[in-house]
Amino acid sequence: MCGIVGYVGKNGATKILLNGLKNLEYRGYDSAGLVVFGSNSAPFLVKKKGQVEVLERECAKRNLSGGFSGLCHSRWATHGGVSDKNAHPHWDCQKRFFIVHNGIIENYKELKDKLLKEGHKFNSETDTEVVAHLFEKFYNGDLNRTVEKVMRKLNGAYALVGILKNKPDVIFFARLSSPLIIGKKEGEVFIASDVNAFIEHTKNVIYLDDYDYGVISADNILIKNLHNKKKKKGDIKVIDWDYEAGLKKNYRHFMLKEIFEEPEAVINATRGRIIIDDMQVKLGGLEQVRHRLRLVDKIVLCACGTAYNAGLAAKIFMEEYLRLPVSCEVASELRYRHFPYDAYTCFVGISQSGETIDTLKALEHAKKLGALTLGVVNVVGSTIARATDAGVYLHIGPEIAVASTKAYIAQIVVLYLMALYIAQLKNIKILKKKVILEAILKLPMHLRQVLNNSRSVKTLADDFKNYRHFFYLGRKYNYSVVMEGALKLKEIAYVFAEAYPSGEMKHGPIALIDRKMVNIVVAPKDSVYKKNLSNLEEIKARGGKVIVITNNKDSAIEKLGDNVLYIPKTIEELNPILAGSLLHLFAYYYALTKNRPIDKPRNLAKSVTVE
Ligand code: M6R
Repeated sequence: MCGIVGYVGKNGATKILLNGLKNLEYRGYDSAGLVVFGSNSAPFLVKKKGQVEVLERECAKRNLSGGFSGLCHSRWATHGGVSDKNAHPHWDCQKRFFIVHNGIIENYKELKDKLLKEGHKFNSETDTEVVAHLFEKFYNGDLNRTVEKVMRKLNGAYALVGILKNKPDVIFFARLSSPLIIGKKEGEVFIASDVNAFIEHTKNVIYLDDYDYGVISADNILIKNLHNKKKKKGDIKVIDWDYEAGLKKNYRHFMLKEIFEEPEAVINATRGRIIIDDMQVKLGGLEQVRHRLRLVDKIVLCACGTAYNAGLAAKIFMEEYLRLPVSCEVASELRYRHFPYDAYTCFVGISQSGETIDTLKALEHAKKLGALTLGVVNVVGSTIARATDAGVYLHIGPEIAVASTKAYIAQIVVLYLMALYIAQLKNIKILKKKVILEAILKLPMHLRQVLNNSRSVKTLADDFKNYRHFFYLGRKYNYSVVMEGALKLKEIAYVFAEAYPSGEMKHGPIALIDRKMVNIVVAPKDSVYKKNLSNLEEIKARGGKVIVITNNKDSAIEKLGDNVLYIPKTIEELNPILAGSLLHLFAYYYALTKNRPIDKPRNLAKSVTVE
């Protein structure tokens, strides 16, 4: 989604801003803009439809390389079409306040009508522009007071960052429900919607909270809060991600790099958490809530997209080993339902970015109604991580490609560990615990075996490149992975793919089967293997093309599948992880045959911070 970068300092604002914006490109956008202040009295301003390169070219054309402060922004259109004039920054009638914004100002229409009546002239169709005019209206010489006044007029979600032409060495900001982070270095200050924008310059960051606002300059940071919530001394955090980790290295796409990082993701997500000699799971992040967790009598897993798919596998695991009612919910739906939360409900928000607004809002709702809220999040210090009572980080490093891959793998593993940890607290004896823990420790090796077979997956994708309709079918633990496989194919290859629990086919969708329909069936030897085979027979009998993913070399399955791909043998709980890696590869290679922009698929954004 939209990206914000702001900078004040002595090291050439233009380059720092443009590089920062490039580091946010993975989030998805359709236009970009920049304002830079330097020795000239008028700021340098450019806004263009398209990619950051267009801004870069424009800056080069006009010989702009320096500047001591500025803002830039990549826009993912919500209010107003994709055009130069709707790109940020926006300004007021006198062109004094330059504003960039992520989020949505919900009451912009009524504010705009009022401002129009008062004589303000608008240049764009965006909700953001009202903010610039509100600054013009309320400014009385005190920037901080003006930001506060403007905030009190706004409803919705915003990360707002602005510069006043007469005070170009100061950046003002405000935050509500949309991420904003300050980065600090001697003589320089950065502000951005994502640490990746400035991680190559500094790892010292301050995560802003809802209702925070204030002003920053190269040697001063002033943060206030509309509700008088004070920042604590330890609020400057040092982030542990490397700039290097976010580079593509020799891979053609970030997505491929991240798939090949899946074995390492498991190693990092389990490091220090499995004490095999004692057969114990140690999750330091949950220690502080252990007394409440022990009493929990129902669990709600809540997420969007891939994180939701990971939750589907965890739901089955938790039900099986905790013997509690567990539901797995799509966040955008759950937040508008009347779920019966109470103090014994454990709500688990699963999110790679930790910024997905639907998941965050569902979590806040559950917390308000008394549930214990936990997070399974990758980005340290993200909004969801900070909004929960406690949580477990994935620790898998940055995931840059829009299509989430290694996060799916690590989320399942961490959720399983969470279940085993809760079982420990509740003194539930799990006979299979040692087997499960040992199998998890072997996962990296098994994942490497899947990845070593990537050539045959590529060949398969090439062979099927002309098919346009795909069913992904699986049962029990593998319903999760077929959802994940179908999601990946849709989002990066733009091909219609639908996931179904195999047993559900005969209740309607089987009517669609003909020789043009490809059925990717995940059927490892597990507790539902025989049932799966029957479902496969039903499809085969109707002429469907069948690709089977299994770990069982048997003649029956080889007869049924037009193609068979093998994954290593493991316990049934971990099959979705191995099949997941294989289906990530399949979607990747399939999208490659179509020459799609794999890392930045159309219409999509990496973290979805609007509803
Ligand atoms: O950052 P999150 O895990 O909260 O993101 C959730 C979804 O938006 C995300 O998984 C999305 O579905 C991916 N593009 C799927 O590949």
